[in-house]
Amino acid sequence: VLNVQTDQPGHEISPILWGIFFEEINHAGDGGLYAELIKNRALSPKRHGMNLDGYAVVKSEGVDGRIYLSTDHPLNSVLTTSLRLNVDNAVAAGQRIGVSNTGYWGIPTRPDYTVYNASFYAKAVGFTGPLTVQIESKDGSIVYATAQVPQITEEFQRYEVTLTPTPALIQNPSIDNIFTITANGPLSADTSIFFNVISLFPPTFKNRPNGLRTDLAQKLADAKPSFFRFPGGNFLEGNTIEERFIWEETIGDIAQRPGHMGCWGLLHRWDSIAPEEMQPYIDSALNEIEYIIGNTSTTWGARRAADGHPEPFPLTYVEIGNEDFVSDDYDIRYPQFYDAIRARYPNLQIIATDYVNTRPVPIRDDHFYPGYGWFPNNHRLYDEAPRNGSKIFVGEYATIDNINWPPQANTASAADDAAFMTGMERNSDIVIMACYAPLFAHLNDLVWMPDGIYFDAAQSFATPAWWVQHLFSVIRGDTYIPTDSDANEGLPAEKIFHVASRKTDTNTLILKIVNTNTEDIMIDAVTLGGIGSTQGGTMTVLTGGRWDENDLQEPFRVSPKTQTFNVTSNSFSYNAPAFSLTILEIQL
Ligand code: AHR
Repeated sequence: VLNVQTDQPGHEISPILWGIFFEEINHAGDGGLYAELIKNRALSPKRHGMNLDGYAVVKSEGVDGRIYLSTDHPLNSVLTTSLRLNVDNAVAAGQRIGVSNTGYWGIPTRPDYTVYNASFYAKAVGFTGPLTVQIESKDGSIVYATAQVPQITEEFQRYEVTLTPTPALIQNPSIDNIFTITANGPLSADTSIFFNVISLFPPTFKNRPNGLRTDLAQKLADAKPSFFRFPGGNFLEGNTIEERFIWEETIGDIAQRPGHMGCWGLLHRWDSIAPEEMQPYIDSALNEIEYIIGNTSTTWGARRAADGHPEPFPLTYVEIGNEDFVSDDYDIRYPQFYDAIRARYPNLQIIATDYVNTRPVPIRDDHFYPGYGWFPNNHRLYDEAPRNGSKIFVGEYATIDNINWPPQANTASAADDAAFMTGMERNSDIVIMACYAPLFAHLNDLVWMPDGIYFDAAQSFATPAWWVQHLFSVIRGDTYIPTDSDANEGLPAEKIFHVASRKTDTNTLILKIVNTNTEDIMIDAVTLGGIGSTQGGTMTVLTGGRWDENDLQEPFRVSPKTQTFNVTSNSFSYNAPAFSLTILEIQL
């Protein structure tokens, strides 16, 4: 029996309970959510430790030339290194030489990528143009789109062209392509062409310039997240202090940004700053907050407006650090940031990453990455937590498949996540926010698994774990309804999990039932207390084979199915499928 005490409503469900956490990991942003298609766009001394990753010479047979990094023709004082193309022997008419870029494991063509915007800075010695800009197959046999820059000069200038692919050439998404900028013969042997900030964008989400990749951004928008945690995670701190997230270098003209070293796949060195040397870092944090929410009469608020966003961004919560339980002196540095932020921005709510004695912890960020069983066994973790202490933000969590390799999320791990989420929703008077992590992974750079959404250069899919996130987020009530059940009796461990809520404006009862068992479990009676009859509603079920995953070939193998729920009685039986999440939306 599963009793739903519809007539005994409890606390408010946190209205911001389900959100998202974006961290630059697995090429989540660079080659991922950020729609830029050119790998290693800005050649900067800071970025990639200065290499030509992604670039190659493209040339007709028999033509001699090379590319290399050159510091004698800098674009500006920030991007001091250029990509230099040198023609070594004269190039005859009808031949070509230039530079190609592979993109992030392929330049994508897709039927919906109907136009691309390409741009770059270039100058030349011994050459005045034209330059041919193309998207072509790796072997050059198919030219999907072509455009020309008629003339270039001896000074760096920005050139922009649109590339319109021939629709008949693109039936399906493809990644076996490159981007090229070439010069056609005749060319003399002393020709040099210099490039920097080479950029290629497909159509972006909401057509925003410099914007987001459509399929990935749409998956996030579809999940209707209530908040956005950014920028990390360990990415915030970098491998070294110099490689930390320096927010001031991430804004403004892209040709004036020095770039940033990623921290994944390298060694996180756990460097620290002495407490008496923290002031510049505190000032930087205060400036960052001012950039986000300061009005336009402030220095950084004005800068935000100049960057195109006069309205402040909605910022409510500021977290000090990340996973600082590894550091023995968080208790010293937390107060330094806490006091400064509280003094300047008393309305902001502060999140600590660990227990602290020296100052209050309004909200604590808990992270969990367990193997199978831990989430189901600990779904009551917050049931007994003090109600007058810190609120909880579960800022990262995911079941790690500790049985199969690679540990991509499957039906079973998604069910474990869902079991814990019933506990978070039940306790959402103190668990005010939660977000799955990591959010994204490029299939060619899996430095951390599992992840919510996977993609290659052209296509993407949501994992079963992401569908759980999606469903918990899009189907939410506002008022907790207590439930109890004897469905676990006789089982070696709890396998059935449940949480209910009411959506007041539509008078809908929402009942979420999770089964983490290897077999179906029949609940003989789901009883709705205090209710005569209902108007029925819908039933959404996410289930699949135990180890079933989604992939590019079958992106919806494990995905939710919604059907009408015709039952109008206040008591009905329900057979919860093995490894499943069921959500009933019943019209009262
Ligand atoms: O999400 C990946 C990493 O896991 C985060 O950077 C870190 O906070 C956690 O350990």
